[in-house]
Amino acid sequence: MIQQRQFFLSPCPPSPCPSILLSTHSQMTNINQSSQLSKTDSSSASKCVRVCQNRTCKKQGAAKVLAAFAALPVPDVTVTASSCLGQCGNGPMVLVLPDMVWYSGVRPHEVPLVVEQHLLSGKSVQQMLYYRFHPQG
Ligand code: FES
Repeated sequence: MIQQRQFFLSPCPPSPCPSILLSTHSQMTNINQSSQLSKTDSSSASKCVRVCQNRTCKKQGAAKVLAAFAALPVPDVTVTASSCLGQCGNGPMVLVLPDMVWYSGVRPHEVPLVVEQHLLSGKSVQQMLYYRFHPQG
């Protein structure tokens, strides 16, 4: 039996990122990972990490990437499952807002590097950038 899954998603406002609900026949799960810690760290203030969970990215391991982000919560960073980000075949795709930084082909073991370097220190991970939107890397 095929399990149907629906994504409820609204446009990501500047701050904070909305939570979304994953709905399945058997469960509903809120995956909002935001927290209410200090606003003094501007490198991680009110960011939103969108991890595509649509068909192609999912086949490429996006569920494990989302789980890896969820396992490493960062103050004022919200991690959400996203519907298709329009870059199918280059996934799993991850988009960090409001920075507009795209990561492609993200593997679960690379998530700690994104968390540490980008979300906590404010410096994008050059070698993981999506070539189409970051041609100079
Ligand atoms: S399925 Fe992930 S970008 Fe389209």
